[in-house]
Amino acid sequence: MSAPLALVTGASGGIGAALAFQFARHGYDIALSARSVDALSDVAAKLAGKGAKTHVIPADLGVPGGAMELLKGLQDLHLEVDVLVNNAGFGDMDPVAQAECSKLVSMVDLNVRTLTELTCALLPAMVERRRGGVLNVASTAAYMAGPNMAVYYASKAYVLSFTRALHGELKGSGVNATALCPGPVKSGFQDAAAMKGSLLLKLSPMMSAKKVAKAGYKAFARSKREVVPGLSNKLMAVSPRFTPTNLTMALVKRLQTQP
Ligand SMILES: NC(=O)c1ccc[n+]([C@@H]2O[C@H](COP(=O)([O-])OP(=O)(O)OC[C@H]3O[C@@H](n4cnc5c(N)ncnc54)[C@H](OP(=O)(O)O)[C@@H]3O)[C@@H](O)[C@H]2O)c1
Repeated sequence: MSAPLALVTGASGGIGAALAFQFARHGYDIALSARSVDALSDVAAKLAGKGAKTHVIPADLGVPGGAMELLKGLQDLHLEVDVLVNNAGFGDMDPVAQAECSKLVSMVDLNVRTLTELTCALLPAMVERRRGGVLNVASTAAYMAGPNMAVYYASKAYVLSFTRALHGELKGSGVNATALCPGPVKSGFQDAAAMKGSLLLKLSPMMSAKKVAKAGYKAFARSKREVVPGLSNKLMAVSPRFTPTNLTMALVKRLQTQP
Protein backbone atom coordinates (compact mmCIF):
# COMPACT_ATOMS: atom_id res chain seq x y z
CA MET A 1 0.00 0.00 0.00
CA SER A 2 1.37 3.47 -0.86
CA ALA A 3 2.05 6.06 1.85
CA PRO A 4 -0.64 8.66 2.61
CA LEU A 5 -0.07 12.07 1.06
CA ALA A 6 0.01 15.39 2.92
CA LEU A 7 -0.34 18.57 0.87
CA VAL A 8 1.41 21.47 2.65
CA THR A 9 0.90 25.03 1.44
CA GLY A 10 3.56 27.60 2.27
CA ALA A 11 6.08 24.76 2.44
CA SER A 12 9.04 26.77 1.11
CA GLY A 13 10.18 27.75 4.62
CA GLY A 14 9.17 28.54 8.21
CA ILE A 15 6.35 26.62 9.86
CA GLY A 16 5.20 25.01 6.57
CA ALA A 17 8.58 23.39 5.90
CA ALA A 18 8.73 22.24 9.53
CA LEU A 19 5.23 20.73 9.23
CA ALA A 20 6.27 18.95 6.03
CA PHE A 21 9.15 17.37 7.97
CA GLN A 22 6.81 16.27 10.77
CA PHE A 23 4.40 14.57 8.37
CA ALA A 24 7.31 12.96 6.46
CA ARG A 25 8.74 11.68 9.75
CA HIS A 26 5.42 9.98 10.40
CA GLY A 27 5.35 8.15 7.07
CA TYR A 28 3.62 10.60 4.74
CA ASP A 29 4.58 11.48 1.19
CA ILE A 30 4.52 15.26 0.75
CA ALA A 31 3.17 17.61 -1.91
CA LEU A 32 4.68 21.06 -1.38
CA SER A 33 3.30 24.33 -2.66
CA ALA A 34 4.30 28.02 -2.47
CA ARG A 35 5.62 30.57 -4.97
CA SER A 36 9.40 30.12 -4.59
CA VAL A 37 10.33 27.16 -6.78
CA ASP A 38 13.98 26.99 -5.68
CA ALA A 39 13.15 27.07 -1.99
CA LEU A 40 10.45 24.40 -2.49
CA SER A 41 12.94 22.21 -4.37
CA ASP A 42 15.46 22.59 -1.52
CA VAL A 43 12.89 21.49 1.05
CA ALA A 44 11.78 18.63 -1.23
CA ALA A 45 15.38 17.42 -1.61
CA LYS A 46 15.86 17.41 2.17
CA LEU A 47 12.59 15.50 2.64
CA ALA A 48 13.62 13.00 -0.05
CA GLY A 49 16.91 12.56 1.84
CA LYS A 50 14.77 11.41 4.80
CA GLY A 51 12.97 8.88 2.61
CA ALA A 52 9.75 10.76 1.74
CA LYS A 53 8.37 10.84 -1.80
CA THR A 54 7.83 14.50 -2.70
CA HIS A 55 5.96 16.52 -5.32
CA VAL A 56 6.56 20.23 -5.90
CA ILE A 57 3.58 22.21 -7.18
CA PRO A 58 4.40 25.93 -7.35
CA ALA A 59 1.46 28.33 -7.26
CA ASP A 60 0.62 31.87 -6.21
CA LEU A 61 -2.17 31.20 -3.72
CA GLY A 62 -2.71 34.87 -2.86
CA VAL A 63 -4.74 35.60 -5.99
CA PRO A 64 -8.19 34.45 -7.13
CA GLY A 65 -7.64 31.24 -9.12
CA GLY A 66 -4.55 30.31 -7.06
CA ALA A 67 -6.25 27.35 -5.39
CA MET A 68 -7.53 26.11 -8.77
CA GLU A 69 -3.97 26.20 -10.14
CA LEU A 70 -2.78 24.04 -7.26
CA LEU A 71 -5.74 21.64 -7.61
CA LYS A 72 -4.97 21.28 -11.33
CA GLY A 73 -1.33 20.53 -10.46
CA LEU A 74 -2.51 17.74 -8.14
CA GLN A 75 -4.83 16.39 -10.83
CA ASP A 76 -2.09 16.42 -13.48
CA LEU A 77 0.10 14.35 -11.16
CA HIS A 78 -2.86 12.04 -10.29
CA LEU A 79 -2.40 12.77 -6.60
CA GLU A 80 -5.02 12.03 -3.94
CA VAL A 81 -4.61 14.18 -0.84
CA ASP A 82 -5.09 12.47 2.53
CA VAL A 83 -4.17 15.45 4.71
CA LEU A 84 -4.45 19.09 3.71
CA VAL A 85 -2.18 21.45 5.66
CA ASN A 86 -3.37 25.00 5.03
CA ASN A 87 -0.32 26.87 6.26
CA ALA A 88 0.50 29.58 3.67
CA GLY A 89 -0.24 33.01 5.06
CA PHE A 90 1.16 36.45 5.72
CA GLY A 91 0.47 39.55 7.78
CA ASP A 92 1.16 43.27 7.50
CA MET A 93 1.77 45.72 10.34
CA ASP A 94 0.15 48.91 9.13
CA PRO A 95 -3.06 50.73 10.12
CA VAL A 96 -5.78 50.03 7.54
CA ALA A 97 -6.01 53.71 6.52
CA GLN A 98 -2.32 53.69 5.57
CA ALA A 99 -2.01 50.15 4.21
CA GLU A 100 -1.91 49.18 0.56
CA CYS A 101 -5.45 47.94 -0.10
CA SER A 102 -4.38 45.38 -2.72
CA LYS A 103 -2.01 43.83 -0.17
CA LEU A 104 -4.82 43.46 2.36
CA VAL A 105 -7.09 41.89 -0.26
CA SER A 106 -4.31 39.47 -1.25
CA MET A 107 -4.00 38.60 2.46
CA VAL A 108 -7.68 37.69 2.54
CA ASP A 109 -7.25 35.72 -0.71
CA LEU A 110 -4.38 33.71 0.77
CA ASN A 111 -5.31 33.39 4.46
CA VAL A 112 -9.05 32.91 3.92
CA ARG A 113 -10.17 32.33 0.35
CA THR A 114 -7.56 29.78 -0.77
CA LEU A 115 -7.76 27.94 2.55
CA THR A 116 -11.53 27.66 2.12
CA GLU A 117 -11.37 26.67 -1.55
CA LEU A 118 -8.78 23.94 -0.94
CA THR A 119 -10.78 22.59 1.99
CA CYS A 120 -14.05 22.54 0.02
CA ALA A 121 -12.35 20.83 -2.92
CA LEU A 122 -10.44 18.15 -1.00
CA LEU A 123 -12.66 17.38 2.01
CA PRO A 124 -15.47 15.41 0.27
CA ALA A 125 -13.08 12.65 -0.93
CA MET A 126 -11.59 12.41 2.57
CA VAL A 127 -15.08 11.97 4.04
CA GLU A 128 -15.86 9.34 1.40
CA ARG A 129 -12.67 7.46 2.32
CA ARG A 130 -13.42 8.01 6.03
CA ARG A 131 -9.83 9.06 6.77
CA GLY A 132 -7.45 12.00 6.64
CA GLY A 133 -8.21 15.59 7.48
CA VAL A 134 -7.30 19.25 7.50
CA LEU A 135 -4.71 21.03 9.64
CA ASN A 136 -5.24 24.78 9.41
CA VAL A 137 -2.59 27.19 10.67
CA ALA A 138 -4.33 30.02 12.53
CA SER A 139 -2.57 32.06 15.25
CA THR A 140 -3.02 33.38 18.79
CA ALA A 141 -4.16 36.47 16.81
CA ALA A 142 -7.38 34.51 16.20
CA TYR A 143 -8.47 35.06 19.80
CA MET A 144 -8.61 38.89 19.72
CA ALA A 145 -8.89 41.93 17.49
CA GLY A 146 -5.58 43.40 16.39
CA PRO A 147 -5.26 47.14 15.78
CA ASN A 148 -2.45 47.85 13.28
CA MET A 149 -2.77 44.29 11.93
CA ALA A 150 -6.56 44.35 11.60
CA VAL A 151 -7.02 42.20 8.50
CA TYR A 152 -4.46 39.62 9.63
CA TYR A 153 -6.14 39.13 13.02
CA ALA A 154 -9.58 38.99 11.39
CA SER A 155 -8.36 36.45 8.84
CA LYS A 156 -7.02 34.19 11.60
CA ALA A 157 -10.28 34.54 13.57
CA TYR A 158 -11.97 33.19 10.43
CA VAL A 159 -9.51 30.28 10.22
CA LEU A 160 -10.11 29.35 13.87
CA SER A 161 -13.90 29.67 13.68
CA PHE A 162 -14.05 27.74 10.40
CA THR A 163 -11.86 24.95 11.76
CA ARG A 164 -13.77 24.65 15.03
CA ALA A 165 -17.01 24.30 13.07
CA LEU A 166 -15.45 21.75 10.70
CA HIS A 167 -14.22 19.78 13.69
CA GLY A 168 -17.81 19.65 14.95
CA GLU A 169 -19.24 18.72 11.54
CA LEU A 170 -16.72 15.92 11.04
CA LYS A 171 -17.21 14.18 14.40
CA GLY A 172 -17.69 10.45 13.79
CA SER A 173 -16.71 10.69 10.11
CA GLY A 174 -13.18 9.34 10.50
CA VAL A 175 -11.91 12.71 9.23
CA ASN A 176 -10.41 15.39 11.46
CA ALA A 177 -9.95 19.16 11.44
CA THR A 178 -7.44 20.88 13.74
CA ALA A 179 -6.42 24.51 14.12
CA LEU A 180 -2.78 25.18 15.01
CA CYS A 181 -2.56 28.56 16.77
CA PRO A 182 1.06 29.60 17.31
CA GLY A 183 2.26 32.73 19.05
CA PRO A 184 5.37 34.47 17.68
CA VAL A 185 7.63 32.10 15.75
CA LYS A 186 11.03 32.87 14.24
CA SER A 187 10.45 32.69 10.46
CA GLY A 188 10.14 34.85 7.36
CA PHE A 189 6.83 36.14 8.76
CA GLN A 190 8.27 39.14 10.65
CA ASP A 191 10.03 40.55 7.55
CA ALA A 192 7.00 39.96 5.34
CA ALA A 193 4.79 41.74 7.91
CA ALA A 194 7.22 44.66 8.39
CA MET A 195 7.21 44.05 12.16
CA LYS A 196 10.88 44.74 12.82
CA GLY A 197 11.29 47.32 15.59
CA SER A 198 7.86 46.69 17.13
CA LEU A 199 7.52 46.13 20.88
CA LEU A 200 5.83 42.82 20.10
CA LEU A 201 9.04 41.44 18.63
CA LYS A 202 11.19 42.98 21.36
CA LEU A 203 9.12 41.54 24.21
CA SER A 204 7.76 38.24 22.87
CA PRO A 205 9.62 35.01 23.40
CA MET A 206 9.93 33.34 19.97
CA MET A 207 9.28 29.62 19.53
CA SER A 208 11.06 27.60 16.87
CA ALA A 209 9.10 26.49 13.81
CA LYS A 210 10.10 22.90 14.61
CA LYS A 211 8.58 23.00 18.10
CA VAL A 212 5.37 24.53 16.77
CA ALA A 213 5.15 21.97 13.96
CA LYS A 214 5.64 19.10 16.42
CA ALA A 215 2.78 20.39 18.56
CA GLY A 216 0.61 20.83 15.46
CA TYR A 217 1.27 17.34 14.16
CA LYS A 218 0.61 15.80 17.58
CA ALA A 219 -2.68 17.66 18.01
CA PHE A 220 -3.80 16.68 14.52
CA ALA A 221 -2.85 13.01 15.02
CA ARG A 222 -4.88 13.03 18.25
CA SER A 223 -7.88 14.65 16.52
CA LYS A 224 -7.76 17.73 18.76
CA ARG A 225 -9.91 20.71 17.77
CA GLU A 226 -7.16 23.28 18.31
CA VAL A 227 -3.77 23.69 19.89
CA VAL A 228 -1.85 26.73 21.16
CA PRO A 229 1.79 25.69 21.59
CA GLY A 230 3.63 27.08 24.66
CA LEU A 231 2.36 28.19 28.10
CA SER A 232 2.74 31.96 27.57
CA ASN A 233 0.86 31.69 24.26
CA LYS A 234 -1.91 29.67 25.92
CA LEU A 235 -2.25 32.45 28.50
CA MET A 236 -2.32 35.05 25.72
CA ALA A 237 -5.08 33.13 23.94
CA VAL A 238 -7.34 32.89 27.01
CA SER A 239 -6.62 36.36 28.42
CA PRO A 240 -9.19 38.22 26.24
CA ARG A 241 -11.92 36.20 27.99
CA PHE A 242 -11.03 37.85 31.30
CA THR A 243 -9.91 41.30 30.12
CA PRO A 244 -12.07 44.20 28.89
CA THR A 245 -11.92 44.29 25.07
CA ASN A 246 -10.79 47.93 25.00
CA LEU A 247 -7.87 47.11 27.28
CA THR A 248 -6.80 44.11 25.17
CA MET A 249 -6.96 46.22 22.00
CA ALA A 250 -5.00 49.10 23.55
CA LEU A 251 -2.28 46.65 24.58
CA VAL A 252 -2.15 44.94 21.17
CA LYS A 253 -2.00 48.34 19.45
CA ARG A 254 0.88 49.44 21.70
CA LEU A 255 2.77 46.22 20.94
CA GLN A 256 2.15 46.60 17.22
CA THR A 257 3.26 50.18 16.71
CA GLN A 258 6.44 51.10 14.88
CA PRO A 259 8.76 53.23 17.06
N1 LIG B 1 5.75 33.37 12.41
C1 LIG B 1 4.82 33.71 13.28
O1 LIG B 1 5.09 34.45 14.24
C2 LIG B 1 3.42 33.14 13.14
C3 LIG B 1 2.59 33.14 14.27
C4 LIG B 1 1.31 32.63 14.16
C5 LIG B 1 0.87 32.12 12.96
N2 LIG B 1 1.69 32.13 11.88
C6 LIG B 1 1.17 31.59 10.61
O2 LIG B 1 1.99 30.52 10.20
C7 LIG B 1 1.88 30.37 8.78
C8 LIG B 1 3.25 30.21 8.21
O3 LIG B 1 3.99 31.39 8.41
P1 LIG B 1 5.55 31.40 8.76
O4 LIG B 1 5.71 31.95 10.11
O5 LIG B 1 6.17 30.10 8.46
O6 LIG B 1 6.04 32.54 7.73
P2 LIG B 1 6.99 32.46 6.47
O7 LIG B 1 8.30 31.90 6.85
O8 LIG B 1 6.92 33.83 5.87
O9 LIG B 1 6.27 31.42 5.50
C9 LIG B 1 5.11 31.75 4.77
C10 LIG B 1 4.90 30.70 3.72
O10 LIG B 1 3.73 31.07 2.96
C11 LIG B 1 4.10 31.12 1.58
N3 LIG B 1 3.35 32.16 0.86
C12 LIG B 1 3.30 33.48 1.13
N4 LIG B 1 2.57 34.12 0.19
C13 LIG B 1 2.16 33.15 -0.67
C14 LIG B 1 1.39 33.18 -1.86
N5 LIG B 1 0.89 34.32 -2.36
N6 LIG B 1 1.16 32.01 -2.50
C15 LIG B 1 1.68 30.84 -2.03
N7 LIG B 1 2.40 30.76 -0.91
C16 LIG B 1 2.65 31.90 -0.25
C17 LIG B 1 5.58 31.44 1.58
O11 LIG B 1 6.21 30.96 0.39
P3 LIG B 1 6.58 31.85 -0.89
O12 LIG B 1 7.02 33.18 -0.40
O13 LIG B 1 7.65 31.02 -1.53
O14 LIG B 1 5.34 31.90 -1.72
C18 LIG B 1 6.08 30.61 2.76
O15 LIG B 1 6.29 29.29 2.38
C19 LIG B 1 1.11 31.57 8.29
O16 LIG B 1 -0.24 31.22 8.04
C20 LIG B 1 1.20 32.56 9.45
O17 LIG B 1 0.11 33.43 9.48
C21 LIG B 1 2.96 32.62 11.95
